[in-house]
Amino acid sequence: MTKRIALVTGGTGGIGSAICQSLAQQGFQVVAGYNSGGNHEKAKAWQEEMLQKGLEMGIAYGDVTKYESCERCIREIEETYGETVSVLVNNAGITRDGQFKKMSWEQWNEVLTANLDSMFHMTRLVINPMIEKGWGRIINISSVNAQKGQFGQTNYSAAKAGIHGFTKALAQEVASKGVTVNTVSPGYVLTPMVEKIAPEVLDKIKSGIPVGRLGTPEEIGHVVSFLCDDFSGYITGSNLAINGGQHMF
Ligand code: CAA
Repeated sequence: MTKRIALVTGGTGGIGSAICQSLAQQGFQVVAGYNSGGNHEKAKAWQEEMLQKGLEMGIAYGDVTKYESCERCIREIEETYGETVSVLVNNAGITRDGQFKKMSWEQWNEVLTANLDSMFHMTRLVINPMIEKGWGRIINISSVNAQKGQFGQTNYSAAKAGIHGFTKALAQEVASKGVTVNTVSPGYVLTPMVEKIAPEVLDKIKSGIPVGRLGTPEEIGHVVSFLCDDFSGYITGSNLAINGGQHMF
């Protein structure tokens, strides 16, 4: 049997890279979607690094903020592998933190487009082939800050909360077709995104995490893999929190 294709957007980034590795170890043909401001060399270096670890990964350029770019990305994957995408992990995301009273429309719009419009762009392109095959997994990466809100993140919290509404509605539409749709909500995970937070602000955040530490990207990859297993076919429309107890709901 040919390997099922798993596309992870933002696949060469902090959490994305761990998700890719976990899915590859599970037996999927992984393709890391990347944008990196068009830095193809950076993505190729990542691919080489994975190869050194014994993991053969595909890479595919796609700007998740633009539907046409996603279309080209999906077409390239289908042409390369002669297969449609079976697993989509909508992981690409950005922050543009700042207090709302000072927030620009650009800060708002960039975050909403990259984190929420991207759900439409990528998912719309893979959903019908999944329905036709009678098997699919969509995993949308949200955030603890979708549920609890976060000072300085009205844009990000709004977009990430919107993701779970999308998950629940789509999950109902495709449940009878063998396609599951779930949200995974990481807390503060040791990635370049979190490293950007001022140390004194991050220390305060850390002190509110009962487990007493930041999460690791591998802990997120593990849960995504679990949801992609054949035995996880009865889990759909759920929102799995991985936040060290920072927010319980
Ligand atoms: N609650 C209440 N008040 C707060 C506060 C909080 N959590 N944080 C700051 N304030 C107050 C400050 O005490 C300060 O008050 P005064 O003006 O009275 O002194 C005021 O707000 C301004 O604070 P700053 O100087 O920090 O404001 P700023 O505009 O320079 O910076 C900020 C604001 C950039 C949002 C900064 O507070 C920050 O970085 N916060 C962390 C945001 C965050 O957690 N981002 C997560 C990124 S990682 C991620 O998003 C991944 C994920 O999914 C978890």
